[in-house]
Amino acid sequence: MATIQELLTEAITRLRAAGSETPRLDAEVLLGAVLGIDRTAIIAQPNVPVGDGSAERFGAAVARREAGEPVAYIRGMKEFRGLAFGVDARALIPRPETELLVELAEAELVHRLTTTPRPAGSPPLRVLDVGTGSGAVAIALGVALRRRRMLDEVEMVATDVSGDAIDLARENAVAHALGDRIRFEVADLLPGGGGEGWDLIAANLPYVRSGALAELPKATTFEPVGALDGGPDGLAVIGRLLDRLPEALTAAGVALVEIGGDQQPELLATVAARLPGWACEVRRDLGGLPRVARIARPRPS
Ligand SMILES: C[S@@+](CC[C@H](N)C(=O)[O-])C[C@H]1O[C@@H](n2cnc3c(N)ncnc32)[C@H](O)[C@@H]1O
Repeated sequence: MATIQELLTEAITRLRAAGSETPRLDAEVLLGAVLGIDRTAIIAQPNVPVGDGSAERFGAAVARREAGEPVAYIRGMKEFRGLAFGVDARALIPRPETELLVELAEAELVHRLTTTPRPAGSPPLRVLDVGTGSGAVAIALGVALRRRRMLDEVEMVATDVSGDAIDLARENAVAHALGDRIRFEVADLLPGGGGEGWDLIAANLPYVRSGALAELPKATTFEPVGALDGGPDGLAVIGRLLDRLPEALTAAGVALVEIGGDQQPELLATVAARLPGWACEVRRDLGGLPRVARIARPRPS
């Protein structure tokens, strides 16, 4: 039987040759997933022998990674905001920069629920996640609100044009005990019959310029192109959402929209053209890049 170290050494050589930029990390994570232990245990026990069945499953996982498939799809799991999300080719793998969108959505709702007097019997705040994919944004927000005991004060809906993504999002919601708290719907941007009256819209829609898709890392070719392709200028889908905001948002409603790190000037120009007079501020992510636009009607003077 081969040891952990022997299996890792061979896998790292194969993955490096295949062009992985993180061959050691990939190999350790994949072996941990196959053995059902965490990566630190893999590193701590190099001389432990691995059974032949596990070694074979690890070999198959390494072969998938050699072919360029993302580690998250091979594991079937990605962490986002400290939560485990099931992921597969039905939807985009949630990215760390999107955690800012959830953080800002949570802050927005907490502010509204704690600083404005809400008489007993007030209707719940209505929250919409547009382009939910794996459900990461809606579910992470739901978990955060449940921890704050505020979940009963919001009504949450999530849409996606992809029926496959909606199926995956529902599975993830059930896994996080939110299956009966978030309504998922296949829809183009806004839900059918419920296009109005949203207090908060959070959207991570496709924003990669069509011409730049070919320059993305190979792993992205395993993700649905409809989750990435934002049209010629990257803002085609976001622009259509902007056009719907006057009808979709309540008077004090806010939209939080994730953008590419180089898209701030185009986004500001698009908002100015499509929503004259509206306010748009862009918050930066941990990497210092402009990442989430907060868009709202101007405050009455
Ligand atoms: C960049 S992915 C983001 C997925 C998820 N929100 C996340 O952050 O991981 C964009 C998602 O928007 C969906 N989408 C694209 N066009 C859409 C539209 N017109 N209406 C609703 N969803 C759309 C895609 O299917 C995809 O799941």
